[in-house]
Amino acid sequence: MILVTGATGNVGRNLVHELVDAGERVRALTRDPATADLPDGVETVAGDLTRPETLPAALQGVDRAFLFPVHGALEAFLAAAEQAGTRHIVLLSSDSVTFPRPGWIGERHLACEQAVADSAMSWTFVRPGLFMANDLGWAAPIRRDGTVRGSYGDAAMAPVDERDIAAIAVHALLAPDPAKTYEVTGPQSLSQIDRVRVIGETLGIATRFEEVPREDTRRQLLDRLPPPAADFLLDQLSAARSTPVPVLTPVEQITGRPARTYAEWVAHHAASFARRHD
Ligand SMILES: NC(=O)c1ccc[n+]([C@@H]2O[C@H](COP(=O)([O-])OP(=O)(O)OC[C@H]3O[C@@H](n4cnc5c(N)ncnc54)[C@H](OP(=O)(O)O)[C@@H]3O)[C@@H](O)[C@H]2O)c1
Repeated sequence: MILVTGATGNVGRNLVHELVDAGERVRALTRDPATADLPDGVETVAGDLTRPETLPAALQGVDRAFLFPVHGALEAFLAAAEQAGTRHIVLLSSDSVTFPRPGWIGERHLACEQAVADSAMSWTFVRPGLFMANDLGWAAPIRRDGTVRGSYGDAAMAPVDERDIAAIAVHALLAPDPAKTYEVTGPQSLSQIDRVRVIGETLGIATRFEEVPREDTRRQLLDRLPPPAADFLLDQLSAARSTPVPVLTPVEQITGRPARTYAEWVAHHAASFARRHD
């Protein structure tokens, strides 16, 4: 039995679907099974990584687990997993742990990695770079007037499709390679300006990127992130203007098929960007 935590998230939901398609027995942990909307055949259980008393039942009979990195909450999960006889943990981490200055986000992921490495179980770390899924945050402004407002529009990153991160996690669960780390990026170096253009070209609509001061973008980010996380992301973008994030190729090496392009990602999410007609 494979337990997937974070099963309703960008990565976890795709992971659950891939594991079910591969014929695996899958249990999915969520804080709210009523709204989880996971595929038939998945055993959906209620659980919360910050509430240790919910975990032993979820871990019963589990030999491998995909672990979502809830900072400060993993030790209890790992202790319960060891107790349940779980053998292998695949941790969702971040490429920020490899940065010379990991920053607020990287430090938290490093702490999660350390907790897993300190357990008695074998592990694999999946360290994705920027998720293409973040750009779903552009869906509302694009539906409104086709204009995305942000800072450091020319910063070049290598965003990765959440389905490809899930594919790496599938590999790590089905063919465990202990103490392995996978740094995962998408196949193209693209600036924000490029990505907004690709959205327009793929969907046949007019789009444009409008540069706004860093402080304006920071204010927007603070709606959903604490200040050190917002500053870290803006610093990362600023740095990527002179030093583009490198493109890595583990998706192709591991799955045998090319990593999905940004245009493929946009086409997959076309409905989110499409203007609604009432
Ligand atoms: N976005 C990026 O560019 C990027 C890049 C590198 C790394 N990352 C890392 O990737 C992670 C985000 O992954 P994602 O986008 O797939 O997630 P997501 O879509 O934000 O979904 C969050 C998931 O975590 C689960 N969750 C949250 N708190 C929980 C708790 N206390 N107990 C149990 N489950 C909990 C939620 O489950 P329920 O609500 O169903 O309980 C949900 O499935 C973050 O750690 C982020 O730092 C992101």
